Amino acid sequence: MTYFTTFVLITLAVTAIAKDLPEFLHVCKRNDPNINDCIKNSVEHLRPYLLKGVPEYQIPSIEPLLLKEIVAAEGGGLKLSARDVNAYGASDFSVTKMDANMATFTYFLNVFLPHLSIDGQYEIDGKVILLPITGSGRITGNFTDCLGAVKFIAGTAVDNGVEYFRIKEFDLKITVGKGSLRLDNLFGGDKVIGDVVNNAINNNFDAFLKELMPVVEKALGVAFREIGQNIVNQFTFDQLFPLD
Ligand SMILES: *[C@@H]1O[C@H](CO)[C@@H](O)[C@H](O)[C@H]1NC(C)=O
Repeated sequence: MTYFTTFVLITLAVTAIAKDLPEFLHVCKRNDPNINDCIKNSVEHLRPYLLKGVPEYQIPSIEPLLLKEIVAAEGGGLKLSARDVNAYGASDFSVTKMDANMATFTYFLNVFLPHLSIDGQYEIDGKVILLPITGSGRITGNFTDCLGAVKFIAGTAVDNGVEYFRIKEFDLKITVGKGSLRLDNLFGGDKVIGDVVNNAINNNFDAFLKELMPVVEKALGVAFREIGQNIVNQFTFDQLFPLD
């Protein structure tokens, strides 16, 4: 085998492992003194691609963001589950804070979402804000001025001699500015009591949300972690964070 053939074969082997860098990915140098701004811009640069999706890179469209099985909460006498929930507005995010530490692989970012709306199916049984509630049907809602605080810890893992970026822990906390929810078909469709309970929920929205949020955060956290990991999985650590 000539040196040239060996070179070509090695090049082919290496390029087969990781894809070339696509336009949607703006990488940041590992030692960039302004790495926070760089990563913030990279994430915001992804916005139109997350809006439409990039099938050849297994990036789903997040407009709408489909949450198949959001909630299955049990605790405090409440059982609530929601299925097939479409969330609209997630692609309208902006990154308001980025704090990246490449030595410890610890990342904090804040994401602002001006408006989110949801449409899905719910099932509820139990007490919420001291009211006994049962029902199942359609749930819709609007949320404005949402702030998502993400903390994730990553690391690298070697696979077939190549180093990859892996998300190890992913934690999401959400605060909602204002919101309203509508649960159709409460109490088997009794309109009068259904309206009373919907009004009670919306008049005590903060308290209702407080009970709901931990499970919503968990579901969204799982969805975003998966999207993030799927994107970075397709590139090597050196591609994502080149040394120079
Ligand atoms: C959400 O907002 C839309 C558009 O403004 C409105 O039609 C709908 O009634 C709202 N839904 C709830 C549950 O507040």
